[in-house]
Amino acid sequence: MIPYAKQTIEEDDIQAVTDVLRSDFVTQGPAVEAFEHALARRGGARHAVTFSHGTAALMGAYFAAGFKPGDEFITTPLTFCASSNAGIWFGAKPVFVDIEEDTGNIDPAAVEAAITPKTKAIVAVDYAGHPADLFRLREIADRHGLVLVDDAMHALGATLDGAPVGSIAHMTTFSFHPVKPICAGEGGVVLTDDDAYARRLKMFRLHGVVKDGFVNESPAGWYYEMQELGLNAKLTDIQSALGLSQLGKLDRFLESRERVAGRYDEALADLPLRLPTVLPNARHGWHLYGVRLTGQWALRRDEVFTKMRAAGIGVQVHYLPVYFHPYYERLGYKKGLCPNAEAFFSAQISLPLFPSLSEADQSTVVESLHGILSA
Ligand SMILES: Cc1ncc(COP(=O)(O)O)c(C=O)c1O
Repeated sequence: MIPYAKQTIEEDDIQAVTDVLRSDFVTQGPAVEAFEHALARRGGARHAVTFSHGTAALMGAYFAAGFKPGDEFITTPLTFCASSNAGIWFGAKPVFVDIEEDTGNIDPAAVEAAITPKTKAIVAVDYAGHPADLFRLREIADRHGLVLVDDAMHALGATLDGAPVGSIAHMTTFSFHPVKPICAGEGGVVLTDDDAYARRLKMFRLHGVVKDGFVNESPAGWYYEMQELGLNAKLTDIQSALGLSQLGKLDRFLESRERVAGRYDEALADLPLRLPTVLPNARHGWHLYGVRLTGQWALRRDEVFTKMRAAGIGVQVHYLPVYFHPYYERLGYKKGLCPNAEAFFSAQISLPLFPSLSEADQSTVVESLHGILSA
């Protein structure tokens, strides 16, 4: 099976990990700090705080933003359920608004229309690696006194008007899961320029514990204080060494992804498909190459999906709108809430895309799709 996504691990990545295993630190040592420093520089932010997973990074961001029961956050349904689940853990309520039908990203006009006195944050997702309309969302957030969190798990390396995605929202999260732009096994990070957020992010990943700025008097140097409820959600040195080595390859990985996407653009142009949109001011991160079936084929996505899988091609669908999941149905969300997202989902298929995808394997994908759609 040709997978839809896959990590690219090379000898020097393996060497970086074994070096750490032979060192004094396997967690909370110099590799974590070096990785955070490199991530902040690459993302164009003052602080980078790493986490055990992208999901934990989202929870950290929502904790830093002060999510509490009764708050609302406005977000997109065209995402992995982690984007909204992480807020529900704090008792906050996701308010799903519709997407822009070209990029699949959250529609700023719909966001603005959904703001209420209970709104605490806007949570955008850079769907497939294409930046959301982040400058406009930031302007809306600032005007209404809201926090803009960008779930940029798909978009490390992407830019908007030349600015790295990590530099635009109040807080931006990235994931280092193997299918993502770089791999650290598992892992995540929050980028921010804000010192107070950075302090709360570090507190959250360490059970709410701080080592300075105490409430009570410190009796001696051993003292630490738990000031809020947090988690153990730290990234290890082992993972950070892998992540740092991978980050050095991000540009090469992005160029490979762009090449694969360019070949699909050409090879699929004459099929009944809507190919991905790239806005002129964006550099796409190409985490996913998703097509949408058009015409009579739009109603036959699952048939095309099943035939592609039978041909040994690991296609996937991104995403079932979050509120279609039974858990969300039980919370009272109903189908029909976001028509653009539902139409996008029902016609969508992601094709294999990863830096080491060979031209031969890509040709197999293209030929299979041609075969199915011309039958
Ligand atoms: C949009 C989005 N948000 C959040 C996550 C969660 O990240 P992680 O798997 O690193 O916890 C993912 C990963 O699947 C994702 O695609």
